[in-house]
Amino acid sequence: MGVSRPIFDSPAGDSEFEPVASVDELSEGTVLQRVRGSGDAICLVRHKNEISALSDICTHQHFSMSLGDLLEDGTLQCAWHGTRYDCRTGEVKQVPATSPLPVFQLRLEGDTILVGPRCERIDGKYRPSTVRVP
Ligand code: FES
Repeated sequence: MGVSRPIFDSPAGDSEFEPVASVDELSEGTVLQRVRGSGDAICLVRHKNEISALSDICTHQHFSMSLGDLLEDGTLQCAWHGTRYDCRTGEVKQVPATSPLPVFQLRLEGDTILVGPRCERIDGKYRPSTVRVP
């Protein structure tokens, strides 16, 4: 009666996780944009069978990171001015951006990818939160 329940039962404190994609939608070496229920855009990255979720908004001049390129060394390169971020930690590996790209917590339930709250920032990067897929 008017009470909404989460789609997935999660341990206490994890109610902010939401399903955003299935593993099948994210092939190796690709980047996928998704918009969360909050309206925030994220980009999912799959590099060497590890998936991570980062903000889709470049910290330099707000270009969409999902339009960029995932490079062999595991950096995500912005298509506008070429900033490169570590795709696990969001750390800036090549300027002009100076602030790291926010990273979000991840969980896999079956083949469904769920994204949670923003990870803790530690100096110039975020605590990594990746899931490994076969
Ligand atoms: S907007 Fe991404 S590097 Fe400038």
